[in-house]
Amino acid sequence: MEKKTIRTGIIGAGFAATFHFECLKKVHGTNVEVEGVYAIDTDHASSYAKKRGIRAYKSLEELLDKVDVIHVCTPPVAHEPIAIAALERDKFAIVEKPLTGYFGDGSDDFNGDTFPKTDALDHSLASIERILKAEKKSKAKILYAENWIYAPSIQKEREIIEKTGAQVLWIYGEEAHSGSHATTYAYWKFSGGGVMIGKGCHPLSAALYLKRVEGIARNGKPILPKAVSARTHAITRLPGFEDKGHIRADYHDIDDFSLMHVVFEDGTIADIFASDILVGGIHNWLQVSANNHRTVCNINPNTAMQTYNPVEDYFKDIYVVEKTGTKQGWSNPSPDEDWFTGYPQEIEAFYRTIAYGDELETTSNLAADCISTIYSAYVSAEKAGAEVPIKTF
Ligand SMILES: NC(=O)c1ccc[n+]([C@@H]2O[C@H](COP(=O)([O-])OP(=O)(O)OC[C@H]3O[C@@H](n4cnc5c(N)ncnc54)[C@H](O)[C@@H]3O)[C@@H](O)[C@H]2O)c1
Repeated sequence: MEKKTIRTGIIGAGFAATFHFECLKKVHGTNVEVEGVYAIDTDHASSYAKKRGIRAYKSLEELLDKVDVIHVCTPPVAHEPIAIAALERDKFAIVEKPLTGYFGDGSDDFNGDTFPKTDALDHSLASIERILKAEKKSKAKILYAENWIYAPSIQKEREIIEKTGAQVLWIYGEEAHSGSHATTYAYWKFSGGGVMIGKGCHPLSAALYLKRVEGIARNGKPILPKAVSARTHAITRLPGFEDKGHIRADYHDIDDFSLMHVVFEDGTIADIFASDILVGGIHNWLQVSANNHRTVCNINPNTAMQTYNPVEDYFKDIYVVEKTGTKQGWSNPSPDEDWFTGYPQEIEAFYRTIAYGDELETTSNLAADCISTIYSAYVSAEKAGAEVPIKTF
């Protein structure tokens, strides 16, 4: 079969835009022509473009006219308008996690600690409805960039569930590290919440996905989340927190610890931790306890490689693993961190969907259920953990 050529635009020129571009170089199922980049910070866009030999566009619309797909690598607050602009022109939108959210009332001094969380739930559900409506009208699709779904360990677990007809009883997982780099992340008005959405969306999406897989394998229909109880905390903002410089501690109005307890419609459960208070490198894992097997998916770190380094300085030019505080002593260098994390597999899958219509694992419905669960969880956390029902899509 002759390879199709897909014309691409990158929106945003920061961290995510950087790893998306690296993954584009590895796509093999289609040809990829990166037409250009657009970012609100034009200096950022120019240096990103120059480094990669592509053009920096002055407007989103101008770039949209030239491409088949855009990669939405902006802070979450901008996902909805950009994705809808693409869908209205029948262009695919690869949207980074989280799909959308609630970013306040527009006031500069909006405070994420004090507003009623039902506002966040109502507005984020309305945002989801607008995106899904635009997708329904469009010839193109939302491709939800949740890399955990494409991580090889999660896909292997998918195979085990599908082929053995497993009943998944309890899923528990975590994404944690010592704090995100993006300055905007510290403010609810840009991020739509704290760590519960910023990191919790990863293991939560994987749990929702695996229960969907199980339901389809066993009964031809996905098993959806029904209710959630949650707690959130702002540990680094406690008056008694002693900052030793290892954990980011400049959050303005967001949570840095969260726990979601999700009950599915079949009565089974998932427990999802997310935090920004963990030293020792990124900690991303998911366990599945089923009626016929038990699996531990170690996304990062894992024991593919273990190295002992007696002197910190020896490894000064060696990348070991995301967010590690030291390279001295024993460590688990990831020999191909992107591969274990699912980034290249995700982009490859998206380009096959765009070019050849291959079935998509990370649909807009999965992304929508993730958002709906998280904002229901914020309502629950406001009530110190009372159970809140989840609307599904
Ligand atoms: N999947 C993952 O592992 C992962 C990792 C990091 C970030 N992300 C996601 O990627 C997205 C971007 O995060 P980041 O860390 O790259 O942020 P960043 O701050 O590093 O970069 C954001 C970029 O978006 C641009 N931008 C902001 N508003 C814009 C707008 N309205 N229109 C066009 N450009 C705009 C900025 O100029 C900047 O270049 C977020 O949704 C984040 O959650 C995902």
